[in-house]
Amino acid sequence: MSDRTIAIAITVNGEPVHETVEARKTLVDFLREDLGLTGSHVGCEHGVCGACTVRVDGVIVRGCLMLAAQCDGARIETIEGVSDAGTIADLQDAFHKRNALQCGFCTPGMLLTAQELLQRGGVPSRDTIRHYLSGNYCRCTGYQAIVDAVEAVAQARGRT
Ligand code: FES
Ligand code: FES
Repeated sequence: MSDRTIAIAITVNGEPVHETVEARKTLVDFLREDLGLTGSHVGCEHGVCGACTVRVDGVIVRGCLMLAAQCDGARIETIEGVSDAGTIADLQDAFHKRNALQCGFCTPGMLLTAQELLQRGGVPSRDTIRHYLSGNYCRCTGYQAIVDAVEAVAQARGRT
């Protein structure tokens, strides 16, 4: 196995980061292990469960399917940064009030995916919400409360 390393310069949650990474290291492992940003989780490690969801240049991606080295020059946002920015405070509140999380393992990815849908504007149908979140697995909630929370936020944002 190659032990090659690559220098990258990225922005993570608004902060410039210059690091040397192993060529084979995934983005989510880099964020968790090298930067201590453990809000992005590692589940299936092959692109199925969505636990590792992060934003790269404004678009959500699977952090387990991207290499950190591929992100050179990119703008990365994790659940920590999005949460600190306050842009999903209403969504987090709705998840909390409606018991849309139990163990919380899926929740960071679920929130980032739901926010991407909500940023399109309007009030999506429950089918659309389910479809959009279908790449994020939850083993605890049965999804109903998650759809309720996302729908409630879409309706509330539509009123403001
Ligand atoms: S850990 Fe990346 S999709 Fe499951
Ligand atoms: S709350 Fe446990 S996996 Fe979703």
